[in-house]
Amino acid sequence: NQNSLQLEPKASDSFTSTGFILAAIGSSVGLGNMWKFPYITGMYGGAAFFLIFILCLALVGLPILLAEMVIGRGGRGNAVSSFHNLSKTKWWGYFGFLSVLSAFAIMGFYAVVAGWTMNYAFTSLTGNLFENPDYTASFLSFAGGNMPIFWTIITLIITCWVVAKGVAGGIEKFNKVLIPGLAVILVILMIRALTLPGAGEGVEFFLMPDFSKLTAESALVALGHAFFSLSLGMGAMLTYGAYTSKKQSLGKAAAAVAGGDLLYAFVAGLIIFPTVFSYGIAPGQGPGLAFMALPAAFAAMPLGNLFGFLFFFLLSIAALTSTVSLVEVPNAYLMERFKWSRAKSATIVTLIIFAISIPASMSMGILSDNLLFGKTFFDLLDFVASNIFLPIGGLVVTLFTGYAWKRAGEEAGLSGFWYNAWMFCLKYIAPIMVIVIFLYSIGIIKF
Ligand code: PHE
Repeated sequence: NQNSLQLEPKASDSFTSTGFILAAIGSSVGLGNMWKFPYITGMYGGAAFFLIFILCLALVGLPILLAEMVIGRGGRGNAVSSFHNLSKTKWWGYFGFLSVLSAFAIMGFYAVVAGWTMNYAFTSLTGNLFENPDYTASFLSFAGGNMPIFWTIITLIITCWVVAKGVAGGIEKFNKVLIPGLAVILVILMIRALTLPGAGEGVEFFLMPDFSKLTAESALVALGHAFFSLSLGMGAMLTYGAYTSKKQSLGKAAAAVAGGDLLYAFVAGLIIFPTVFSYGIAPGQGPGLAFMALPAAFAAMPLGNLFGFLFFFLLSIAALTSTVSLVEVPNAYLMERFKWSRAKSATIVTLIIFAISIPASMSMGILSDNLLFGKTFFDLLDFVASNIFLPIGGLVVTLFTGYAWKRAGEEAGLSGFWYNAWMFCLKYIAPIMVIVIFLYSIGIIKF
């Protein structure tokens, strides 16, 4: 397939250079930044955790992010065929197929959580959210009921529609409007949070490191989160990379995306911690932080339903720009593999995800006692994707770029110091760290 490798994609199948950066930021900035990052930071030591997270982003996340973009553009294919186009052995591509499976598994629960955020945005605005002040009970009864399925459908329809419209006309346009929009809402919410009485205590918790709280486990959680947050190990950045022009500097793009991801997480922290501290709520509330703790703060705040709406609306938008990239991975694969039209492929992918998301949603309610390997279906999807598929996918990318494919540096446009630094991370630091988190998360090693 040598010919196609030299070609630029058709205009409708390619990003402009800002479009690519915004779409990649859209993929990386998601529920991971706004919902997961604050609660794990709360649980694993505040600012000390945040510093370790930055280190993981720089030494492991950024090198793998660049490698994925480079494989996509070099191979000009999907998460499977890009490897085939660049290598004589088929094995890399077979591992690439895991990415397609990860995308389905992640979407199966991610679309459900995205749906929750939409429901919360809506009920903040109408005020229904604040009717029952027991927010834990009302979250549990909501998540276990049928309403989330309705919102999951809305999430999937919007996502499918954007993907079906194509790379330039759908994905790029969507992100070009929404990513700057997200920044505006974040700034409004940050100003509100930082001017609440007692906000300083929350800022201090978030930004004053206490290294005594740092454990090996928190370092591993930070690394796993760096992976998830940059959308690595499941072919999203690789698939987007295939749509960029040869003129684009991928090194700069990767740095912008990692920096953007960090900035959005940082600002999310500056919203959530001052808000919860100001209303006397403990920060380490686990996954319920956004859905159970924050509504209480919004209820007590002047114009709380407006700020509650903005907050949950922000989460919904951040989630949608990520779901679009998740769906594009299997979509691009099936389009090429079966020569389907984009609309047909996107529809089929969406229907499969819908079928997975129903039991995922119901495992918060009537299926909560049906355990597989000791986990609910929802938790199992998250566990298998985040702890097994993503690390394997990341490992394949580092080993392929570090050891197998000799032209990676040329495609990345790197030479000299930056090339050597990149290769050092890909050959040694990243694979070792990824193997360690993998063995830890499946319980083979313990600290
Ligand atoms: N990076 C997204 C987030 O932080 C999640 C995601 C993972 C998106 C993998 C695409 C691929 O929420």
